Amino acid sequence: MITVDTILNKKKSGEKIVCLTAYDFISARILDDVGVHIILVGDSAANVFAGEKTTLPITMEEMLYHTKVVARGVKNSLVIADMPFMSYQVSIENAILNAGRFLQTGACGVKLEGGAPVVPTVKRLVDLGIPVMGHLGLTPQSIHKFGGYKTQGVGEQAAAQMLEDAKALEASGCFSIVLEKIPSNLGQKISGAVGIPTIGIGAGPHCDGQVLVLHDILGLFEDFTPRFVKRYADFAELMRRAVRQYKEDVEKGIFPGSEHSFD
Ligand code: KIV
Repeated sequence: MITVDTILNKKKSGEKIVCLTAYDFISARILDDVGVHIILVGDSAANVFAGEKTTLPITMEEMLYHTKVVARGVKNSLVIADMPFMSYQVSIENAILNAGRFLQTGACGVKLEGGAPVVPTVKRLVDLGIPVMGHLGLTPQSIHKFGGYKTQGVGEQAAAQMLEDAKALEASGCFSIVLEKIPSNLGQKISGAVGIPTIGIGAGPHCDGQVLVLHDILGLFEDFTPRFVKRYADFAELMRRAVRQYKEDVEKGIFPGSEHSFD
């Protein structure tokens, strides 16, 4: 079974860490079967699963449901649950209660967004035995502050601030940090400056691991494909083809055949 220590040791041994999102039992079981190290129950479920425009509307109850069904499909991978907007910002007590619910539901740790402002919360969670993954760069819960999905950490001052935030997250006890949509050289600099693994998404090849949204690599989410995504399949087209064929078979009376019928 993959633990937080397995992930920390991968950085020490120079092995890359593989992370993908999952929101449902079947996907989680396949990812686990293939040996994906970290399965992130991302709040991107808001966009990708539920069709929302941002990650902001997804609730604790919805994220707990996704976490529960994902955990049910996993034997080995490390399941990390994304703490949704407003589940950790209001107070440390509230964050502890919500993070605890994720662990009770089957997650092995939680992810939360932000740098210095979340450090006291991270410290407290880690002290209580709850592993925490940080998230810097283009943190989608701050979309309205950023005014769009722009590259973050651009320019000397912004880069220096992100480096400080990464060091602060490490000092507060995070076991890894997601770096999203930042310049490649900043991804490299942060990865070299912290002892915990960095997991990049649009942060270049020098991060200690990579994460992408499963539906993006499968070509299932067609609304928008960021440049940092590599598509490995065209599942949306495959699905259309199969459903079209089924429709045609039913309409023409070809399905069900005798082999699908009972005497
Ligand atoms: O919600 C999510 O899927 C994420 C990853 C893309 C890092 O936060």
